[in-house]
Amino acid sequence: MRFDVITLLPELVEAVTQVGVTGRAATRGLIELHCWNPRDFTEDVHRTVDDRPYGGGPGMVMKAESLLKTIRAARKASLAVNKTAKVIYLSPQGKQLDQEAVRNFVKSAVQNTSDDQQGLILLCGRYEGIDERIIELEVDEEWSIGDYVLSGGELGAMVIIDAITRLLPGVLGHKDSAKQDSFTENLLDCEHFTRPEVVEGLQVPAVLKSGDHKAIAQWRRKQAIGRTFQRRSDLLQENSLSSEDKALLKEYLNESGS
Ligand SMILES: C[S@@+](CC[C@H](N)C(=O)[O-])C[C@H]1O[C@@H](n2cnc3c(N)ncnc32)[C@H](O)[C@@H]1O
Repeated sequence: MRFDVITLLPELVEAVTQVGVTGRAATRGLIELHCWNPRDFTEDVHRTVDDRPYGGGPGMVMKAESLLKTIRAARKASLAVNKTAKVIYLSPQGKQLDQEAVRNFVKSAVQNTSDDQQGLILLCGRYEGIDERIIELEVDEEWSIGDYVLSGGELGAMVIIDAITRLLPGVLGHKDSAKQDSFTENLLDCEHFTRPEVVEGLQVPAVLKSGDHKAIAQWRRKQAIGRTFQRRSDLLQENSLSSEDKALLKEYLNESGS
């Protein structure tokens, strides 16, 4: 999958292709990152990308002209390999990103033929944000990564790239890794343990050492349902628990004394 990122700080975003799961995916050619710096699309000697806001007030605003040229160049490049290219503006005012949105991005990007494939162009604001007319002219969707204000959209773009990449076929070591993650099936993940068996007096649950795969799977499901009920009951309301799941939840609540 190809990501095009429009940013004044390409060195920040490029870090995503240098380390960890996303770094390995880039090395193996499963993702491709192209950064576009609006400064490269300016015409003055100072390479100016911002200006004072009309109406006065604090801060600066990213100028329209260089952004228009940058977005159009990125779109053209993305359309050379994808059927469509969606421009996403990272903004605290956008729709809040969740796992379902990430799954939908993956679905659109990973089609059977390149005739259907959709590329993503991630537009990162800085300063007070971008000239509003850019949103009107070129932005297809606005997405936020949470109800807080960052200094720029780069971390948001990296969040989107990371969350999408781990769902792309062949990226994670085990094909079931992502299936057990939180928010798959509207459940949180169960807890995990590794060696040693005892840490400062705290034991690993006996069932996990039993070798009984059916019992282990059932325990994990029970923990996932129980944790979700206790921490994020809003997720369970959308989830139609089967009668077996309801029995597991009852068992979990009895065991935890809730
Ligand atoms: C300092 S912010 C501007 C905030 C803007 N004045 C507002 O209050 O809506 C600069 C840039 O950071 C990015 N940004 C800030 N918070 C974000 C969030 N929660 N999610 C995604 N992007 C964010 C946006 O690209 C924004 O243009």
